[in-house]
Amino acid sequence: MVGITENPGFLHQCKKHGCDVLVLPMIFMEGITHDPSFIDNQLGLLFNAPGGFSFRPLIVQVIGTNQDQARIAMDHLASYDLDGINLNLGCPSSKLSKSSAGAYMLDAPEKRDGMITTLERYSPFPFSIKIRLLGGRNPDVGRSKAFCKSLEGSGIDWMSIHGRTRKQGYSGVARWDIIKEIHDFSSIPLIGNGDIKHALQGNELVKSSHADAFMIGRAAIADPKVFDATGSAPSSLEVDLAIKLGLYEDLFGFLEKYSATRVDHFLSLHERKRWLLYFSRGARNARIFRARVSSIKDLESLEDLVTAIMTRDDNNNENKSPSC
Ligand SMILES: Cc1cc2nc3c(=O)[nH]c(=O)nc-3n(C[C@H](O)[C@H](O)[C@H](O)COP(=O)(O)O)c2cc1C
Repeated sequence: MVGITENPGFLHQCKKHGCDVLVLPMIFMEGITHDPSFIDNQLGLLFNAPGGFSFRPLIVQVIGTNQDQARIAMDHLASYDLDGINLNLGCPSSKLSKSSAGAYMLDAPEKRDGMITTLERYSPFPFSIKIRLLGGRNPDVGRSKAFCKSLEGSGIDWMSIHGRTRKQGYSGVARWDIIKEIHDFSSIPLIGNGDIKHALQGNELVKSSHADAFMIGRAAIADPKVFDATGSAPSSLEVDLAIKLGLYEDLFGFLEKYSATRVDHFLSLHERKRWLLYFSRGARNARIFRARVSSIKDLESLEDLVTAIMTRDDNNNENKSPSC
């Protein structure tokens, strides 16, 4: 996820709490060919992590429309020991409409099929795609199924489907019923995606044959512990604020183990405030805290605020397990 999964501290939390496979945010193949330093730095941080922490299995997600650049990008990535390459055919951003990249490529069959064939051939690692359902304001079940059927025999190793169309963006609900219809006939392993709040919910969908596996996006941003399926089903995801702030300490604690210059950009005040706002989502009584975080202008005040909440007497006396 752009702005989220490039952060080694966050990826480390997801893995620690049970996420099986990590996927980096989409990166333009044209960008890799013109200036590979961004992806090189990113992979450098993950393959040389503090304490030898393992960020594997690790998948690089690419996006783009130029097949020549795709081949060069694959050549470059071949020097890393990755676990897969994933093609983004699901990003609905209007910025991609001109180039027909991301989810726009789903409606440009020649470009789409050409890129799938090229990457399937030149990817040095298992190759997969991420798509949305086809259609307009509503999913077109027939077209979605026909496209997925056309992928049989294409050689792709797996596909993930977000159960909404490009036009829907994030509106409505993810159509797991359609994902299941596709799963019923597909010989390609299918990862379902959309609106999963917790790994236990995802496991139920897998058990009822909706997909072979599931992917969690937004819920993990507010709490990477959603990947932990070892306990019983939470009756509520509302958690004490101090517990959520523990996630912040954990994320930045991990980053601070790197030699500072390598992760400077992840340690800024802006970044710290951003993660506090993410992690305090869904926490009890977080409204005032969030307003205070937004107004803070220096690191010291931010740290004071976090410390004050984490050491508050009422927190110390409270049972610190989530209220769920
Ligand atoms: C901030 C943000 C960034 C995202 N970036 C990507 C991305 O780089 N590649 C991708 O395939 N999907 C991306 N997505 C979409 C998610 O992977 C996922 O498909 C979508 O949010 C639906 O799943 P969810 O309901 O579990 O969030 C992004 C979503 C968000 C909220």
